[in-house]
Amino acid sequence: MEYSTKAIHGQVDDTGKGAVTYPVYLTSTFLQEDVEQFGEFIYSRSANPTRATLERQVADLEGAKYALATSTGMAATAIAFELLNSGDSILLSDNVYGGTWQFVNELFESRNLSYELVADFNQYDFSQVSENVKAIFLETPTNPLLHVTDLKQVIQRAKAQGLLVIVDNTFMTSYLQRPLDFGADIVVYSATKYYAGHSDILAGLVVTNREDLYPRLKVAHKLLGAILSPFDAFLLSRGIKTLPLRLEKHQENAQLVAEYLNQQEGVQVFYTGLPDHPGHAIQEGQASGHGGVLSFLLDEEVYELDIFVQSLTLFGFAVSLGGVESLICRPATMTHESYSVALQESIGIRTNLLRLAVGIEASKDLIDDIKQAFEKAKR
Ligand SMILES: Cc1ncc(COP(=O)(O)O)c(C=O)c1O
Repeated sequence: MEYSTKAIHGQVDDTGKGAVTYPVYLTSTFLQEDVEQFGEFIYSRSANPTRATLERQVADLEGAKYALATSTGMAATAIAFELLNSGDSILLSDNVYGGTWQFVNELFESRNLSYELVADFNQYDFSQVSENVKAIFLETPTNPLLHVTDLKQVIQRAKAQGLLVIVDNTFMTSYLQRPLDFGADIVVYSATKYYAGHSDILAGLVVTNREDLYPRLKVAHKLLGAILSPFDAFLLSRGIKTLPLRLEKHQENAQLVAEYLNQQEGVQVFYTGLPDHPGHAIQEGQASGHGGVLSFLLDEEVYELDIFVQSLTLFGFAVSLGGVESLICRPATMTHESYSVALQESIGIRTNLLRLAVGIEASKDLIDDIKQAFEKAKR
């Protein structure tokens, strides 16, 4: 069955009432019939039917055995990090979501964990890693500079050294890219973004095929209480039904916006859909699209950045991405403000870098909006 069909079907109402959408079980606890033998559902922190249905839907779409639905994307990442033991170290892409970096930078030390930032996993020599390095964590394309990691070759080489591979696949979703197919151990998502798709909930997902790891992830999920509420599970499930349709439009619009921006003076665009992007060929080989996020450097000698941003009427100035509406943000002072200035400079997150999360509005309206903002912002 095709992805878009699976995204819609498969959540059967098991109450016998014939509801076309799966019911929302707004209950914290479940009556038990027997003092010795408990039913499938006991307490909603451990498992809830609405969440369980969503988790089956997500696992099925990813071609995975297991999925866990979490309260946020950061909760999904935190649960994956629970697999680390005191003394362990991880390799982390140097441009990942700012919250992920802040987690390792601020919460690792007290847990006796450490990390090393890696500029480019494609070139990284894994044979040199010290013994305490146990895992790698990466995003591809990265947030916000859209660097591409060659999943097949990097995962193969990391696994040859016995490293656990965790991929944050938020920008792509399983519709466009499935890291487990390349041998990744765990995939995490901020489902707040494309999966939910409407900027109305926070949610996360952890997906794996590893039978040995799943019980530990599940225990962390339950005991940290990092679970998705039944109502948000319902909303996420509803969002997933239109994920393929939305993502197709997001990336069609992103491509057109990127091409338009690329023709403007004083603008340097980062979007893997542009043929001259250094990761273009790898992206085409490992994903079935380029997604809806792009970033660009705006030459402040040509344009006044503030005026440009303020003049946009369809791109809301806000963090986040993956909702139906277009957004613009400045990573240096927003999504990645937790990075030190030195780190931002070393990896290219400059104050004139803007990130666009291109929505599903009419592309002509989006481009017209950018055009009028350029006109107003021109020095
Ligand atoms: C790539 C990526 N990973 C993880 C997160 C964290 O997700 P959440 O905000 O749902 O906790 C974000 C949020 O922006 C993100 O962009």
